[in-house]
Amino acid sequence: MISRNDPCWCGSGQKWKKCCYPKEGPQNLTSQYKKQYGIILKTEKQIEGIRNACKLTAAILREACNLAKEGVTTNELDRLVRKLHKDAGAVPAPLGYGTPPYTKAICTSLNEVICHGIPDDKPLKSGDFLNIDVSAILHGYYGDCSAMVAIGKIDPEKQNVMDTSYECLMRSIAILKPGVLIHEIGDIIEDCAKEHHCSVVNQFVGHGVGIAFHEAPQVPHHHNDIAIPLAPGMTFTIEPMINAGKRGAVIDPTDGWTARTIDNRPSAQWEHTILITPSGHEILTLLKDPQK
Ligand code: MF3
Ligand code: CO
Repeated sequence: MISRNDPCWCGSGQKWKKCCYPKEGPQNLTSQYKKQYGIILKTEKQIEGIRNACKLTAAILREACNLAKEGVTTNELDRLVRKLHKDAGAVPAPLGYGTPPYTKAICTSLNEVICHGIPDDKPLKSGDFLNIDVSAILHGYYGDCSAMVAIGKIDPEKQNVMDTSYECLMRSIAILKPGVLIHEIGDIIEDCAKEHHCSVVNQFVGHGVGIAFHEAPQVPHHHNDIAIPLAPGMTFTIEPMINAGKRGAVIDPTDGWTARTIDNRPSAQWEHTILITPSGHEILTLLKDPQK
């Protein structure tokens, strides 16, 4: 820990207390965040690696979304995603992850499935909507993002949760910069969901990501009291799961993964990986080129 009479970290030659105090330097902040919160503030080199992994993850997600049409099975999406990882020299993070080991490369969560839906051989049909969640490991770095696809025409209740979960995500991202507290993310998301008569799932959360699949901190999407200030070099996901009905989730006892709404009403989710920069944030899983 730097003390007030030490030379300032900015290199001015003045004492810290006469210079940048109470603002802490990057080195110091890194060890403080690790010790206090278990959060890894990434170096420039790590950020470069994570940025590349995130670009690939977003590109694979886009391809999978483009393939998701009436008559296509979620196993076909899974196969495409495996091939795109292989071609890029990357590995799907979900494959073999957790307990019991997850058996597929992506999650495909249809209709009343909140998250962690497992691809199968059932063809998608008009009126379905689904979340496709892609997490890639490229040269040891992780990216994580997901998006919704509507198959044919969906009913107004589904349209509302789909639009609301996207608005929740983007409104919460818009406030991100150093000093913002983790709970401000959940405040915005829960208020936004309420405005649209939806509920926010509180059994699953966003998470630090980059060097590992799931790092500190947890990023709840509901009202909470986590007062950790965001700092430059943090990389984490926001992935609000928004329900048309009750917020509760039930995990399928037969597969140990599929999480469904307790009332079987629809649920939707969008996800980005975000970097906190000195002046604000960067959405690492946002593709810059417009869709062709
Ligand atoms: N974005 C999801 C998450 O962070 C990806 C889950 S993959 C799984 O939980 F393997 F954990 F299912
Ligand atoms: Co995630």
